[in-house]
Amino acid sequence: MIAADDKNGKILYEDQDHKFIWLGADPEAASGVVQTNQYLIIDKGKGVLLDPGGIHLFARVVAIASRYISLDRIDSIFFSHQDPDVSSGIALWLGITSAKIYVSSLWLRFLPHFGVVDQSRVIGIENYGNVLKLQSGAALRFVQAHFLHSTGNFSAFDEKSGILFSGDIGASVFPEGREVLFVDDFDAHLAFIEGFHRRYMASSKASSRWVRSVQALSPKMIAPQHGAVYRGPSVARFLEWFARFECGVDVIDSIYSK
Ligand SMILES: [Fe+2]
Ligand SMILES: [Fe+2]
Repeated sequence: MIAADDKNGKILYEDQDHKFIWLGADPEAASGVVQTNQYLIIDKGKGVLLDPGGIHLFARVVAIASRYISLDRIDSIFFSHQDPDVSSGIALWLGITSAKIYVSSLWLRFLPHFGVVDQSRVIGIENYGNVLKLQSGAALRFVQAHFLHSTGNFSAFDEKSGILFSGDIGASVFPEGREVLFVDDFDAHLAFIEGFHRRYMASSKASSRWVRSVQALSPKMIAPQHGAVYRGPSVARFLEWFARFECGVDVIDSIYSK
């Protein structure tokens, strides 16, 4: 279960210079609205937000992030893709911080539709490069995750903590009251990920390509934008499962028949 005090977030990794923080469960999540996770990396006093989320979460994410860092020290924001639950708060975040935003170049021309956006602060990852150097010299590595599920899609690997932020990949959807913060029993967890991945992910050709890149990084945790965080043996179990899972266009006939 997710404990009541988890609404204030939890530090998933910490050393002298570096923290990787889950920004907590929304205690007032409305039913019918997809649950989302936001994460904050603090490296030598500078912050990177990962998929800080949509407009309706903005006030809560600001309040929780502020418990850990002053907002004027957030200098980078990563968007895994263009979905509203990831990035519809873009204009608000640009207004309240001086951060630059990193997102697939495919979405640069689309994001202004979420509000007035200073384009000079929105950077296309394909043009920028694979690695965002953090204040301490540690690297946040952008990992291609195209078609999982978005056409232009990235994961972000925090080399210092060994935590991979995977966006929608690995997302779980829990029945009310069954939420957990960590996946410790992968077999039991399958019931909460199969439906989402079958319909939202493009194909096992796309997933196996991503899994190969990720296995080479040997992540210690996989932290998705929805649901629980994979740790321990569930990391490798999830990757093995996802590489072979038939989804999207692999099962298009079953989708059309519905
Ligand atoms: Fe999405
Ligand atoms: Fe999502």
